[in-house]
Amino acid sequence: MSGPRRNVELKAVDPGPARTLALALALGASDEGVLVQRDTYFRVASGRLKLREEEPGEAHLIAYSRPDDPAVRVSSYRVLPAADGTLAALGETLGVDVVVEKRRHLLLWETVRIHLDEVTGLGSFIELEAVADPDSDLSRERSQVDRLVDALEIGELQEGSYSDAVRAVSPDPELLQLAREAAGRAYAPYSNFPVGAAVRTEDGRRYAGANVENAAYPQGQCAEASAIGAMVAGGGGRVVEVVVAAPSAEECAPCGGCRQRLREFAGPDAPIHLADMERVRRTTSLAELLPLSFGPESLA
Ligand code: THU
Repeated sequence: MSGPRRNVELKAVDPGPARTLALALALGASDEGVLVQRDTYFRVASGRLKLREEEPGEAHLIAYSRPDDPAVRVSSYRVLPAADGTLAALGETLGVDVVVEKRRHLLLWETVRIHLDEVTGLGSFIELEAVADPDSDLSRERSQVDRLVDALEIGELQEGSYSDAVRAVSPDPELLQLAREAAGRAYAPYSNFPVGAAVRTEDGRRYAGANVENAAYPQGQCAEASAIGAMVAGGGGRVVEVVVAAPSAEECAPCGGCRQRLREFAGPDAPIHLADMERVRRTTSLAELLPLSFGPESLA
């Protein structure tokens, strides 16, 4: 393993990545291009261990520990090249905790790495990493970071890691699998647009459904409606999580009618995950999909 290295670093939500990029370039930061990164975090007893696959670049294993406080913080880490098979070897033994995918625009200012990150499912962030010399007392790195906070007009700092944030919005793995399996069994010979949906109830039951089309086209039924029907037949209840999965190039969001169907059983903040067969493209909610809605309590 490489010797431990230290960074002084911070992270913040970036409401305007294009503007931040312009500010950084105006300050004289060099543009190091865009990296597409996929970090697979393994289940470990302490600290964090991730395999980073990078395009362009080679895979590395990164081990680190760092406090999750929102202030400027010091992190200590080790990086080592990962041989082929590392992902499988560690995934099969330790288990995969969470996967974080992002597009990182990398800039360098003095010895500070500026990351303009677009993280799948989370949004845009800026990170600063001032890489410290081994014998540094970190005062130089802290003042570099302070200077950039001013110059780039960085606002409220973000607590925790991308991995924690991604885990918080990740679907229940079983629910995701049920929705994908249902999509694989959809009856959609007319549209060729198979969809699967799965709902999880407050008391932990899971129900799936697929779209079912008909030669008399208007008689077709959406996957969400099928899943809700299965849930009602299975005992009913409140829906606390939804997955809609479609092997589609575009994101598949519930149609207007199904938003209303979900409204009957799910609260405004229940996560609704929009997935394809490989990834979750977006996590949304009824509050977002169906604002100012009409529901059972409107009849009172
Ligand atoms: N469909 C669903 O089942 N769920 C959605 O969220 C969007 C659309 C179905 C209806 C129809 O069978 C096919 O997709 C094409 O519209």
